[in-house]
Amino acid sequence: MHYDEAKFAEYFSDAPADLDIAQLDMARIPRHISCIMDGNGRWATARGLARTEGHKAGIVSLREVITAAVRLGVDVLSAYAFSTENWNRPQHEVNVLMHLFAKTFIDELPLLKRENVRVMFLGDISALPERTRKVFEYGLEACRDHTGMTLALAVNYGGRAEIARAARSIARLVQKGDLDVDAIDESCVANQLYTAGLPDPELVVRTSGEMRVSNYLLWQIAYSEFYITDTYWPDFDRWELVRAILAYQGRDRRFGGLSKTN
Ligand code: FPP
Repeated sequence: MHYDEAKFAEYFSDAPADLDIAQLDMARIPRHISCIMDGNGRWATARGLARTEGHKAGIVSLREVITAAVRLGVDVLSAYAFSTENWNRPQHEVNVLMHLFAKTFIDELPLLKRENVRVMFLGDISALPERTRKVFEYGLEACRDHTGMTLALAVNYGGRAEIARAARSIARLVQKGDLDVDAIDESCVANQLYTAGLPDPELVVRTSGEMRVSNYLLWQIAYSEFYITDTYWPDFDRWELVRAILAYQGRDRRFGGLSKTN
């Protein structure tokens, strides 16, 4: 994705003293960055606040990361907002999250419009409470003509459920006689996932120090680089994103082959 040098320089002026922005190789910015936004609850608890206050603070971080990703020229930013397992949280927290998702999408429409951000959902949004679903549908329609960075929000998403859903779609194609069993290859499976048409994430960022994948993009992260930081999501900002990209740019990606230096 094209990046605007002047807007980039302005947005990333004032870097912390220990961060040298000039180290960023703008020719090797990951096309797709994915965030597992973790630690909202612990951030709030550590401050004596209700967990839901952590989710509100997490939205401020997401807003900053969206803008930062646009400024960096990222093609796709995806973020894990609600898993198929998150329904097991206390009903009050689920209700607050569903309300916040709807409110956030409406509140951020001007930002999404200004920055020309395409929006899509990964996951089964048909199963969300009616109001949240309707707001999502309204927001998707409002962003329909946008052609810039893609923001893919994983809501009611589970990696295993996604693969099972793809298997059902493929089975139906075979059943109808539209697909030969021997033609089922990796790209055929990829085309039936929520992420069809998107590049796989080169970089997955997980906040709050957890070393887990948590049923996230199981197929798509086969060769992703992971960056795990102890920072809780509400404290994750543009500078943390730059640190993650710098770490990624320092990695030797081999895709099962040999290093270029071998
Ligand atoms: C994980 O923290 C975070 C979430 C479950 C929700 C994150 C969602 C947002 C920041 C807003 C997304 C906005 C839209 C429009 C979809 P946690 O509760 O698991 O924290 P903990 O591990 O400390 O308990």
